[in-house]
Amino acid sequence: MGHIIQFTGLSGSGKTTLSNAFLEWGKQSGLRIKLIDGDVYRQTLCKDLGFSKADRLENISRLGNYASSLLTDYDFICIAAINPYEEGRLQLKLKYKTSLIWLKCDLETLIHRDPKGLYKKAMLPNGHPDKIYNLTGLNDTFETPQLADLTLDTSILSPDQCLQLTVDFLSSREIP
Ligand code: ADX
Repeated sequence: MGHIIQFTGLSGSGKTTLSNAFLEWGKQSGLRIKLIDGDVYRQTLCKDLGFSKADRLENISRLGNYASSLLTDYDFICIAAINPYEEGRLQLKLKYKTSLIWLKCDLETLIHRDPKGLYKKAMLPNGHPDKIYNLTGLNDTFETPQLADLTLDTSILSPDQCLQLTVDFLSSREIP
């Protein structure tokens, strides 16, 4: 029976990077790991959803439901979505006994990284045709995770260190 890990963190905080590294580690360790990446599923399962609070909660709820349908096929299922609300995180935790890993990163670093150019767009002047008005962390809510089982500050830690701490955490923890 598998275990679901929900990641939470702002865009560019390293959720996909850590998940991919974890996937690679899984291959080498003979474990079956599935990645459910928010960006990818917003093109398919969650295509009809936007970025309102209700839609973001629905998004994580669907991803959790999908992850739970895979529990017999995988050892770990990683949900890598921004997942900005405590309500959504708590629901998944209670429903599926997930672990919650917070990829914490300060805004200054994220604005500097900006791999998708989203922060730049969110900082455009009002009325600009390319402006994003509801980017999480900049002009939309990201509730501080109070229930994280592991917090990784990716402005300080390298991807390799994050992977090692994740693996250590998962192996030290009695997974329900
Ligand atoms: S969540 O908030 O509902 O958990 P999710 O992780 O699925 O978000 O999708 C976030 C991705 O959507 C980002 O990586 C980014 O590529 C894209 N995106 C587009 N608009 C926004 C926005 N306003 N806020 C956050 N992400 C956005």
